[in-house]
Amino acid sequence: MERTFIMIKPDGVQRGLVGEIIKRFETKGFTLVGLKQLAVSRELAENHYGVHKERPFFGSLVDFITSAPVVAMVWEGDGVVASARKIIGATNPLSAEPGTIRGDFGVSIGRNLIHGSDAIETAQTEIALWFSDNELVSWEPTITSWLYE
Ligand code: RTP
Ligand code: MG
Repeated sequence: MERTFIMIKPDGVQRGLVGEIIKRFETKGFTLVGLKQLAVSRELAENHYGVHKERPFFGSLVDFITSAPVVAMVWEGDGVVASARKIIGATNPLSAEPGTIRGDFGVSIGRNLIHGSDAIETAQTEIALWFSDNELVSWEPTITSWLYE
């Protein structure tokens, strides 16, 4: 089953949106297989956002991600990688559609509340970066037959 890596950024945690954000993935019908709050090291933040290391915003992005706790999660379900990106919305919250997390709760690209893996391969790399195998729990919700034909 497909999995994606989701992280509630420091602004989402500080603003008390952890429950609201988890609820959106849960009520959609995805399955939570990993969850932890952590203080992110510079090394982990730089590794996670390594693809952006030449960009002008890289330093401030790493400063931000390491500034307060984040909530890291792994969610599972058919098509979860692309669907989670839709639930999250466009990178700039001012362009994100209402009904998306960024569209409903954000006003600034540097405070866009949440990260989601952008492709299946990226998700696999990010899950391995943030979680060890024994932190992930494979389980089948008893309601599965009410979610999938
Ligand atoms: P993310 O990786 O955090 O899920 O966000 P994303 O895919 O929607 O956007 P991405 O292009 O990967 O950018 C990563 C994060 O860098 C910050 N950013 N700032 N100031 C800027 O122009 C700028 N551009 C990107 C955002 O916090 C973005 O989420
Ligand atoms: Mg990205």
